[in-house]
Amino acid sequence: MKLLVELSGEQPAMALSEAMGACHVTSPVEDVLGDERAALVDQDIGMAVIDTTTSSDDLASRLALCWNISEYLFSFMDMDIDELFGALDLDGRSFAIRVKRTHDLWIPEDSQHLIDRIGQVLGRTGRVDLKDPDITLRIIMGKRLHAGWLLHEIDRKSFEDRKPKNRPFSHPISLHPRYARALVNLARVRAGDRLLDPFCGTGGILIEGGLVGADIIGSDIDPRMIEGCEMNLEHYLGKDSGSQLHELDVADIEKFGKVDAIVTDPPYGRSASTAKEDVEELYIRAFGSFVKILKSGGRLAIVFPDMEFVKLAEEYVNLLEVHELFVHRSLTRHFCVFEKI
Ligand SMILES: C[S@@+](CC[C@H](N)C(=O)[O-])C[C@H]1O[C@@H](n2cnc3c(N)ncnc32)[C@H](O)[C@@H]1O
Repeated sequence: MKLLVELSGEQPAMALSEAMGACHVTSPVEDVLGDERAALVDQDIGMAVIDTTTSSDDLASRLALCWNISEYLFSFMDMDIDELFGALDLDGRSFAIRVKRTHDLWIPEDSQHLIDRIGQVLGRTGRVDLKDPDITLRIIMGKRLHAGWLLHEIDRKSFEDRKPKNRPFSHPISLHPRYARALVNLARVRAGDRLLDPFCGTGGILIEGGLVGADIIGSDIDPRMIEGCEMNLEHYLGKDSGSQLHELDVADIEKFGKVDAIVTDPPYGRSASTAKEDVEELYIRAFGSFVKILKSGGRLAIVFPDMEFVKLAEEYVNLLEVHELFVHRSLTRHFCVFEKI
């Protein structure tokens, strides 16, 4: 099915990669669309059309950086409205039309004009109900116009509920859960995969990994973090989540055996402690351990405070992508994805 996915305005490139990764790991059919299991069919500002064998339910429950998922109908121009929308038979059902302008080419009057014209055409076989419609038409006004029937609104509020300050054990060093989930999706972690976070801190990444059904393992050198992380995992994943937590230096993670993915937010050598170790030395020790336990083809999704560490990591693993996120004047996070060859 072709899905119209509305992407986060703040991080559209990372949102698209996240959506492609999530389609890949939730798709039940291996060979229909080749190894990728999802094909990018079209793209415009703030949206993508993805041809995928995954169910939109599964996709919606995984995504963090997207807004809505619709069943893609077509892309169109003003002059096509009568022909294309006239061919849709609503069979008496009620409908609402919701428009999103993603390009500043359009003004609010353009949206209203579009709603009026399309509403008139759909009104021949259906009736307008803005409060509780049977179906909702999403129109995206980017460089071109795109239409789809709304299937899911992503539950963005649930990520807010898991924000660091709302957890039983809180520490400001933790990533926002939306970005922790995005990292898990960029690493293409499947339900049942062994996912390791060797700098687990309060467990923000492990919580998101556990919620998508991964078999999670966390370690951290600081016993207070391990204790607090345990409280957080129990709170969000329950007592019997089967998660493993260990107080351990990153060089000792080899004892966990092979893992499918490593997803982590290491200390940046600033506010998060490196136990006085130089951050470059710590990363070099970490990369040496990561390559030993990561399965071949497995992904490392990691956040760096600086591009210089990307070069260091490339001596061990193959770089796939980098997304920059400005946090404040002295911190830009680099969300990096690598693959073990
Ligand atoms: C940026 S924090 C991780 C934040 C985490 N993503 C969270 O949600 O809380 C980095 C963590 O690395 C741990 N750490 C520092 N040096 C370490 C080492 N040598 N081995 C293992 N963990 C270490 C720190 O104790 C800290 O908890």
